[in-house]
Amino acid sequence: MSVVGIYFSGTGNTRHCVNYFLNRYDQGAESYSIEDPKVIEVVKCLNESHILIFGYSVQYSNLPKLLKDFVTEHGELWKNKRIYVIATMGLFSGDGAGMLARLLRKYGAVIVGGLHLRMPDSICDEKALKHTDEEDRITISKSEKKIENAVKLLQEGNPTKEGLGVFYHLAGLFGQRLYFYNKTKNYSDRLTINQQKCVGCGLCASQCPMGNITLNQEGKAAASDRCTMCYRCVNRCPQQAITLLGKKVIHTNYMEN
Ligand SMILES: Cc1cc2nc3c(=O)[nH]c(=O)nc-3n(C[C@H](O)[C@H](O)[C@H](O)COP(=O)(O)O)c2cc1C
Ligand code: SF4
Ligand code: SF4
Repeated sequence: MSVVGIYFSGTGNTRHCVNYFLNRYDQGAESYSIEDPKVIEVVKCLNESHILIFGYSVQYSNLPKLLKDFVTEHGELWKNKRIYVIATMGLFSGDGAGMLARLLRKYGAVIVGGLHLRMPDSICDEKALKHTDEEDRITISKSEKKIENAVKLLQEGNPTKEGLGVFYHLAGLFGQRLYFYNKTKNYSDRLTINQQKCVGCGLCASQCPMGNITLNQEGKAAASDRCTMCYRCVNRCPQQAITLLGKKVIHTNYMEN
């Protein structure tokens, strides 16, 4: 079986996990962000000899709106595709892989496995969720070990099924989703940009997957109301001028590879 990866990753955690997985499975395997226009053609060309490794990061034990919209808008892409779902999370999702798996099955996908990986929390403006660099390094290293094991099992024809099945579904629903369902249903207008701190470098505007940030006439960043809470701009702003759920950036994290 050949593998190909696709992912949505706000701050690089999921991209890192998908690439680590692919690299251990087959060093020549390639991955694509769903933000890359090529991704549609790549998925279209897959056949029964391929497994698609599909990674995303959970939000409130749910799919980010951007990802849900992508999967739904391209429903015809998933028919008969063999898909292994990876869900990354800061702590807990219950059925992170199951959430995406159920949606893909609706469009005819065959789900071959699921994997849950803990990574540093991308919400960098909430003190309670941040850890030290050393703690984050340990978290990443544990997930990499878990991936190595998962790759071995997939190669042996016995893929992990984490996040799939009724037990996980109930854990995700009652653990979090039931109370926070509305959080990922609509766009957020809560992004705040501190105009005193902003130096107008434009990084946030160029990196936002929603095109939700522009530079205004004063050359400062200004946000609109189509944020899907990926936290990329919050973590990447060199001035720590952007906040979303919290009031102050505590400690940023962005994985380059
Ligand atoms: C809006 C939002 C909601 C989140 N909700 C959860 C959650 O319910 N459970 C969890 O364990 N992590 C949660 N996280 C943390 C991310 O899932 C986690 O840090 C993930 O690895 C980020 O991956 P990325 O860098 O690929 O975007 C949330 C992050 C954001 C931005
Ligand atoms: S990344 Fe930060 S400093 Fe740069 S334009 Fe955006 S808000 Fe301003
Ligand atoms: S405004 Fe920031 S957090 Fe919102 S979608 Fe764009 S990059 Fe992500």
